[in-house]
Amino acid sequence: MSSPTAAERIIELRRQLEDHNHRYYVLNEPLISDVHYDRLLRELDALEQAHPEWSDPDSPTQRVGAKPADGFSEVVHSAPMLSLANAFSAEEVEAWHERVVGLLDVEHIDYVVEPKLDGVSIALRYEHGRLVRGATRGDGAIGEDVTSNVRTIAAVPLRLRAESPPEVLEVRGEIFMTRSGFKQLNDRLAAQGQRGFVNPRNAASGSLRQLDPTVTATRPLSFYAFGALVEHSDQATHSATLAWLQNLGIPVCPEARTVSGVSALLARYEALTMLRDGLDYDIDGVVYKVDRFEQQQELGAVSRAPRWALAHKFPAQEAITRLEAIDVQVGRTGALTPVARLEPVFVGGVTVTNATLHNADEIRRKDVRPGDRVVVRRAGDVIPEVVRAVIDEASARPEPWQMPQHCPDCGSAVELIEGQAAARCTGGLVCPAQRRRAVEHFVSRGAMDIEGLGSKLVEQLIDAGLVRSPADLYHLEPATLARLDRMGEKSAANLVQAIDRSRQVSLARLLFALGIREVGEVTAKQLARRFGSLSALAEASHEALEAVEDVGPVVAAHIVAFFAEAHNQAVIDQLADAGVVGVPEDHGSTGPTSEALAGQAFVLTGTLTTMTRPQAKAQLEALGAKVTGSVSAKTTAVIAGADPGSKQAKAEGLGIPVWDEAKLQALLDDLS
Ligand code: IVH
Repeated sequence: MSSPTAAERIIELRRQLEDHNHRYYVLNEPLISDVHYDRLLRELDALEQAHPEWSDPDSPTQRVGAKPADGFSEVVHSAPMLSLANAFSAEEVEAWHERVVGLLDVEHIDYVVEPKLDGVSIALRYEHGRLVRGATRGDGAIGEDVTSNVRTIAAVPLRLRAESPPEVLEVRGEIFMTRSGFKQLNDRLAAQGQRGFVNPRNAASGSLRQLDPTVTATRPLSFYAFGALVEHSDQATHSATLAWLQNLGIPVCPEARTVSGVSALLARYEALTMLRDGLDYDIDGVVYKVDRFEQQQELGAVSRAPRWALAHKFPAQEAITRLEAIDVQVGRTGALTPVARLEPVFVGGVTVTNATLHNADEIRRKDVRPGDRVVVRRAGDVIPEVVRAVIDEASARPEPWQMPQHCPDCGSAVELIEGQAAARCTGGLVCPAQRRRAVEHFVSRGAMDIEGLGSKLVEQLIDAGLVRSPADLYHLEPATLARLDRMGEKSAANLVQAIDRSRQVSLARLLFALGIREVGEVTAKQLARRFGSLSALAEASHEALEAVEDVGPVVAAHIVAFFAEAHNQAVIDQLADAGVVGVPEDHGSTGPTSEALAGQAFVLTGTLTTMTRPQAKAQLEALGAKVTGSVSAKTTAVIAGADPGSKQAKAEGLGIPVWDEAKLQALLDDLS
């Protein structure tokens, strides 16, 4: 065969293989057998070996996996990867629908119903039609770069099927393992004398996070998209976006349906409940999504979950085991939580040894006693819980359990909180358990992120009296640390360095680290952004606090109470003396802001030249503006870069101003 013909054959084989892949994964209409497919692939491989000048990184032969990596690098998601609010009953679904109807003030709502795939979330970025990155969800804001692994997954196209693909397209979806693939994998591992995975989700997650992509390549992973970043879709609805993605060659779950109204949601839930066992992939519920993007935008998100979507979970899985004991755990704020110690039992795909019992009232209501046989329930990734006792009439039961009157850690009196079922240790920071938890929280990843300070070490520092409050961490000497168990000079020096580095953390992180009740990472960011310093926050009134998104009367009261407490103020002063004040971020969504553009909404479209779209978005948001993905009557202006697409046309149709980049720049220069 002469060279030009070889080249032609290479191109033809690539086209055929991509087509067969597409038929198999996207259209569910395979034309040829696996054996036939492998034969074509081997022919292509041989030709490429003989003609390296025709090699192509996106050839179907190149999915075998690159070299092993040392670790995964971090990826900052261009838009957060949100999670979903859960519902477990038809009533909760109806209440959600009513809320959506009320907020949107419309009668009919179109929804898309999709199976909730039980796998691992992934963000795939395509630039000019080529897959350039795959990233895990991570904490929603920052994930891990798993591109080399994702490239080995045949269901993920390396190139989009389009003559002129979108410049940028970020697809969000789920990597999962089919049940049949899972079984084959476990059989293969067993034959090699290796331990198998407990369920397809763990297998998918473990395989995707393999440092060696050649191992991932041998794992039967699959993929379905469940959306794209709204700003990359020129469609007006979620359903049209799914169809558009499918047209671009991206697999979409064939069970997704568009329906209208709440009874249709529930009917589809019932239908999927019946279909569930027959599917070749695990699903743990159904996801409902408001179809129109404009309506999604109007509904927005609370904390980390959009108001326009809801996961309706299938009933949890249950098992029976023995309740060996009820222990009491002391939390960071002194709250006492009874914890069930269980005889290990396999439920919902994992072995469970502990379960929450919430509080003494609940134990009384359920009347579970140490020694009882109990029903344990596990729903998806929710913490397992003890549901009820299985009482054997014939045998005598132990005495009912009582909340101890003294803290198991420090012996201080336990107080019952009026009107609440909760009990609390009154020891405050005298209680080593509370101190330990406060310090553990302070150093944790989302907070001060001090590496090398695990819970064992925190315990030693507290027990040795070296640390009484988080501020004491900043006075630790390497020589003192080096004398502790399992610490050498090197690790002591590293730890002091890590502590020192944490002096530079952002105000938002410091705020979260302080452990104010009900102030999580998201609220901390909002507060940091609004108030800009700890002292400004400490002086904020109830009203000013409640004006912050996510802050209601309860959270506002916790914040005020926190700063009113002398020992908290003392810790804050000591931290400030040690140089820890929380650095206000001057960019992005966590920095202090002016409100110059409050109430204004912008839409960005096309390619900007002096900045990226995420940068423009961050700058506008820092000035109090909203940046949305679709044009509506509420849009202030559409900012159009090069090749703006349909959003500009839509704006013109609605009589909404269209600005060029220079005008945006002038506005930003004026205001910042
Ligand atoms: S939508 C903004 N759709 O569930 C909404 N998620 O609990 C973001 N998941 O991290 C997700 N199937 O990994 C969506 N059809 C589906 C899904 C789905 C599974 C996972 C996803 C997400 C998690 C949220």
